[in-house]
Amino acid sequence: MARLVVVGSLNMDLVVQSPRLPGPGETLLGGPFATFPGGKGLNQAVAAARLGATVTMVGALGKDDFGGALRAVLATARIDARLQDGGEHSGIAVITTAPDGENTIVVAPGANGRLDTAFVQAQEHGFAGAAAVLLQLEVPLAAVAAAAQLARRHGARVVLNAAPAVPLPDSLLAHVDVLVVNRGEAALMAHAPGADPETCAARLRARGCGLVVVTLGAQGAIAVDASGVHRQPGFVVVSVDTVGAGDAFVGALAVALAEGLPLVEQLRRGCAAGALATTRRGALPSLPTREEVDGFLRRQGG
Ligand code: RIB
Repeated sequence: MARLVVVGSLNMDLVVQSPRLPGPGETLLGGPFATFPGGKGLNQAVAAARLGATVTMVGALGKDDFGGALRAVLATARIDARLQDGGEHSGIAVITTAPDGENTIVVAPGANGRLDTAFVQAQEHGFAGAAAVLLQLEVPLAAVAAAAQLARRHGARVVLNAAPAVPLPDSLLAHVDVLVVNRGEAALMAHAPGADPETCAARLRARGCGLVVVTLGAQGAIAVDASGVHRQPGFVVVSVDTVGAGDAFVGALAVALAEGLPLVEQLRRGCAAGALATTRRGALPSLPTREEVDGFLRRQGG
């Protein structure tokens, strides 16, 4: 069974369905409101666990009720949780979703912003035997860098989902085996506004990471490595909510990588999990199980 470590954020998502996304300074009357567990770290940890991996999650929670609810999610998913006390408030994300599948997300990091390097380093024994370590950018960069170094020391592959995108030092990118970004993040990180995903990926590869994967929403994903560009077209589904689809993709890709599947299969399973996640509302509740992904791919003829 694949063993993964996730170092990242845990949020409670406060989600309102809206007839459209509001403009600056505009107030809209929205539709139903719901809270869902989320955060890119927790979503990717649960995505991997539902796909059959053994998962350790390192993060930080507050003392509030959200913290208690998020702890319970980790226990239900049978994830080995190593959680720093992050003060009063857990992370929250304020999310607006529109009928066309677009959304806006603003994250108040709370406890996630307090995850410190010393706490991550103290979890070193949890990295032993991991095939891959999954990282995102909703916790401090120093904690991400510490986790990447521990992964290297223990021979684990480093998968960095650079979201939300921020400028990254080449010293960190040099520790990354697989960089996963969406189209906008790729352009921003490659300092190439308007450039196509292949160009952005090539520029990012030149900064030190061996494999760059760019997710393209309904159009699927591309992966660029030393042998060239690999393409996986998107799967056609009836999409109701795209929040968490990127996390489903990353979790599935990482599990397939940890299981030693070839790159084309990693992309295919990532795109299948991402597509399935858009068919249900909420980030974490929408993440598919291994049976769902396998069944979906069988029906697609593969
Ligand atoms: O990727 C989706 C996630 O981004 C949401 O669950 C939200 O918490 C933000 O972190």
